[in-house]
Formats: sequence, structure tokens, C-alpha cells
Amino acid sequence: MKEIYLDHGATSFPKAPGVAEAVAAFLRTDAGNPGRGGHRLTVRASRVIEGARESIAELLGSHPERTLFGAGSTFWLNTLCTALLRAGDTVVTSVVEHNSVMRPLRYLERTRGVTVVTVRTRNASGIPDPSEVRAAVDAVSAKLVIMTHASNVTGAISPIEEIAAAVRPVPVVADGAQTAGSVPFDFDASGLAAYACSGHKGLLGPTGTGVLLLAPSLAEELQPIVRGGTGSRSESEEMPEFLPDRLEAGTPNGAGIAGLGIAARWLLERGVDAIHQHESQLAATLVTRLNAIPGVHVHGWDPNQPHTGILSFTADSTDPGELAAWLDRERGVMLRAGLHCAPAAHRWLSTFPSGTLRPGISPFSTDADIEVLLSAVEEYVSSRRRM
Ligand code: ALA
Repeated sequence: MKEIYLDHGATSFPKAPGVAEAVAAFLRTDAGNPGRGGHRLTVRASRVIEGARESIAELLGSHPERTLFGAGSTFWLNTLCTALLRAGDTVVTSVVEHNSVMRPLRYLERTRGVTVVTVRTRNASGIPDPSEVRAAVDAVSAKLVIMTHASNVTGAISPIEEIAAAVRPVPVVADGAQTAGSVPFDFDASGLAAYACSGHKGLLGPTGTGVLLLAPSLAEELQPIVRGGTGSRSESEEMPEFLPDRLEAGTPNGAGIAGLGIAARWLLERGVDAIHQHESQLAATLVTRLNAIPGVHVHGWDPNQPHTGILSFTADSTDPGELAAWLDRERGVMLRAGLHCAPAAHRWLSTFPSGTLRPGISPFSTDADIEVLLSAVEEYVSSRRRM
């Protein structure tokens, strides 16, 4: 049985060509501690990491000095929420946030007296329009807007650049976990204050990597939540003021970053526009064909909004987890089922608490993969109808 991986929303597989080799090459030949000491292994490790930083900055439209590496989007979103919100501040967010945004916000609400306001929208996907965000920001004099660039449940893409323009000068932070490398994006033209993303999803790199992009004003002032050695200003017991050192304490994940750099070069060659076209078209086909199967429902798919390669569906009288397990066992199709770390999104879609099945298309997914999924779902659903 052929294995068909359709869980690109959780993590990418396979990785971009050359990623595994770059990780192994770093560990074999370049694995010094960058910036610590001056011997040749340290210099080689620094070169690999700074090369990767330049590639990621080029891919996402940022400057290398304002492009930071860390453990993942969760780490950077926690940094941003914790460093930017003070007691008495109000933050505006959406109803479809991942727990990497909602959990830090709820924690700050409980422990620091931050007020969290979620924008109610007319859109079925839960992704608000710029005017709806603007109205919410004005109503509460918000200090910050933090929102996903695309829902990890429905795949709906937010007009985040227009939101940033609509609420200016209130800073907007975007969670790019589901868009980096999959959706065309130019950070320095976006008007965003910050953009945090994972390295292992659309960027096709290793797990344990993540990227933070900062606009110049925030780059000057953002304080770390983790402090430690940087290899620079070692005479001081305070963090250096300059970037990336101020926000990159501790030995970096050199092997992971080496792989991420190669993935960025591959994405630059392939072109994010072409990848987005491929993924969103396959997803749109899947939506139309799933909706045509009696008893199958796609959730939160708004034809008026652009989409990634992710979507969510359920089948009548069918537990999503049971169907996903059957697809894996009997047809070799891997996708995620249940609640996708975004409980409010499922409440919004009325798919709480059993959740949905969530296929995620990658640059390597094919028409044939989609056909296998569709015929398997059809078979399972019609056999249930006969029971
Ligand atoms: N955030 C990942 C997902 O949506 C893990 O599946």
C-alpha cells in the first residue's frame, strides 16, 4: 500500500530536497558553536547559520538583522505576547486562533490583568475583515492586534496587510505558522510589526526551528523572555542590545537551521507563488468533490476568501478520529483528526468537541493522492449508510 501523507498543516513531509543532507553535513563537518570562540569550526557554523538567515530573509521579504531564529512559532508568539502586553492593556484577536496565541493570551489575562477581545465576524471562516478589526480596536483602544495569517482549521487566509493598514498605528503581530513558504508574502511591505512562523511546515525545514521577523521600530525595543549566553559582550551580565544576539540566547539549533536554509533556497527556486497555486487548487478541488459526497460537509470554506492547502470536513454519524484511523490503516492516507489545537475555531464552526478531519496539501501532493482520499471517504461513508 502506498503511503499518502496529507498532514502538511501539522508538519511537512517530505522535507525539501537536500534538507536531510544539509542537517547531516552540519553535524558531520560544521557543528561548532557559532559566535563562541574564533576557531575554524565556530566560523564554519556561523557561516551556515548566517547564510540560512540571509536565505530566509530573502524568501520572506525581511532584513537579515531583523530575522531571528528560535525553537518554533510557539516560542516567538509567547515572546511577543509576554514582552508586549502589560497590566491594563487590551489585545484584539480572532475567533480562530491556534493555542500558540490563545494560551499565552489567556495566561496573561489571568495573571497580568490583560483584556483579550475576539472579533466577531460575518465571515463563515471566522477570519475577520479589516473593517471589523478596526471597529474592535477602536471600541476598546487596543494596544495590540495579534492574529493568524491563515486558520490551521479551515485554511482561510486573512487579509493581514489590509488589517495592519486599517488599524495603524496600533501594531499588528501575525502568526504565520500556516502561511510561511506556502502563501506569497513580503514582510517589509506588509505593514506588520512582527511575523512569527515555524520552520518545519510550509518552509519545509526540520522541526525545532522557527523564525521571527520584526519591523524596524519593534526590532529596537523588543525584549527577550529567555536570557543567557550569546558569545558576544561576555564581560556583561546583561543581554547585548544588538540583534540577533538580544533575542537569541543559548546555543542555536545549528543542524536544524542548516536544513532550514537549504529549504529556503529550494523554495526561492520553486517560487512560493507556484506552490500556493498548486496547493490552493488541489484543496479547492477536494472541497468541491467532498461536498458532492452525500453526508459529507466541508466547514468554514468561504469562496470569497483565499485559501491555503488546508481544509476541514466531517461526515454524518462518523467520528473523525475513527475515519482517520481507518484511512491510515486501510488506505495508507495520513491526515489529522479531532480538535486542531484551536478550540474556539471549532466552537465557531460548530465542530466542537469531536472536531474535524483535516487534509493538508503540500507542494509534493498530487491529483492521484486526492483521488485516493476521495474514493476512500466515499467508500467509508456509503458503507456506513448501508449499516
Ligand atoms: N499546529 C499544528 C497543527 O495545526 C500542529 O496541526
